[in-house]
Amino acid sequence: MRGRGGAGFPMGLKLEFCRNAKSDVKFIICNADEGDPGAYSDRYLLEERPHSVLFGMLISGYVTGAAYGVLYIRAEYPESISIVQEAIDALKNADLCGKNIQNSGFDFEFKIIQAQGSYICGEETALINSIEGQRPEVRVRPPFPAQQGLFNKPTIVNNVETLATVHHILENGGANWKALGTEKSSGTKLISLDSFFNNPGIYEVEMGTPLAEVVYELGGGFKSSVKAMQIGGPLGGLVPIHKIEDLNIDFESFSQNGFLLGHASIICVPEDFPILKFIEHLFDFASYESCGKCFPCRLGTKRGQEMALKAFTSDYKIDRVLFDDLLTTLEKTSLCAHGGGIPLPVRNALTYFEDELKHYFN
Ligand SMILES: Cc1cc2nc3c(=O)[nH]c(=O)nc-3n(C[C@H](O)[C@H](O)[C@H](O)COP(=O)(O)O)c2cc1C
Ligand code: SF4
Repeated sequence: MRGRGGAGFPMGLKLEFCRNAKSDVKFIICNADEGDPGAYSDRYLLEERPHSVLFGMLISGYVTGAAYGVLYIRAEYPESISIVQEAIDALKNADLCGKNIQNSGFDFEFKIIQAQGSYICGEETALINSIEGQRPEVRVRPPFPAQQGLFNKPTIVNNVETLATVHHILENGGANWKALGTEKSSGTKLISLDSFFNNPGIYEVEMGTPLAEVVYELGGGFKSSVKAMQIGGPLGGLVPIHKIEDLNIDFESFSQNGFLLGHASIICVPEDFPILKFIEHLFDFASYESCGKCFPCRLGTKRGQEMALKAFTSDYKIDRVLFDDLLTTLEKTSLCAHGGGIPLPVRNALTYFEDELKHYFN
């Protein structure tokens, strides 16, 4: 099972690191910050399958020796918070959480923390700082959270969708899960389609499903003309329409083609929306949401936004060498994937929309 929060890191490995870490106190965190614009799959699971998510946390606690589970749920999802709290209360009433569960000697308590709406709070170490009541700044790794996380204790941070798969895997066996999907991307993935699709919504597809099937069969095609789709959140790639036929919904297919599956939200860019304006918006978002801890991202995202805006609103031409240098600096020297990831969609735009953009560069 590879994590569904974006990076695709194997869940079992993380659990093993935490299990091997020596400590009386350990934590399991469910990352339900779901900050990617256009992503609603975590919300769907929290509200429609809360017990699957809680079960995944409970089992993670059981195998690592953690007795505390924290659900970090964005405050913009008030229904998710109340529905999950009701599910926790139901478990408590059935003696399926709390102290000495069913006389097993295993303790596991749940607690919900309301996240307060910053994109960077979804990054696992900023999230941990936020729970501790500190500024949500990214922490330097190592140490990784599985060794030293919440209150410096071994901590697992997993995405909602990752945790929700555990029930299926335990009930049907690992081989059953492995039989779904591709060699390196097992199982299924939830996809969020935005309102540019004729059939917007959340779909569960087997890994390896052609993107064309998702767009044209499940999504029913586009309501109006679209020139690209940003897939996998603001740090995800910008997929031009002509690349749809080349991609399958799995981690490898996206990365080999220079994109990122991420959390698999799909946001459409209409035909008449200027790509430079899209780039400006990406940098603006990245700058506004930056935690500010490292220079490349704190300064670089703002400089990128300024250049794009100036070129869009005046005769100013962006120096292409300087711009490429900015992207490389962000990629190579940012402390976390926020600053490190924003160049990906910008580079995709430069590659696939060269004709539209060349007018703005010298
Ligand atoms: C800027 C930024 C924002 C992130 N936001 C989220 C988020 O909203 N939800 C999430 O599960 N992971 C998010 N992540 C990824 C987490 O840091 C972490 O990798 C993930 O929660 C691990 O869970 P997984 O292994 O189940 O995927 C974000 C990462 C970055 C760099
Ligand atoms: S890349 Fe941006 S968000 Fe990440 S640590 Fe640096 S300043 Fe913070």
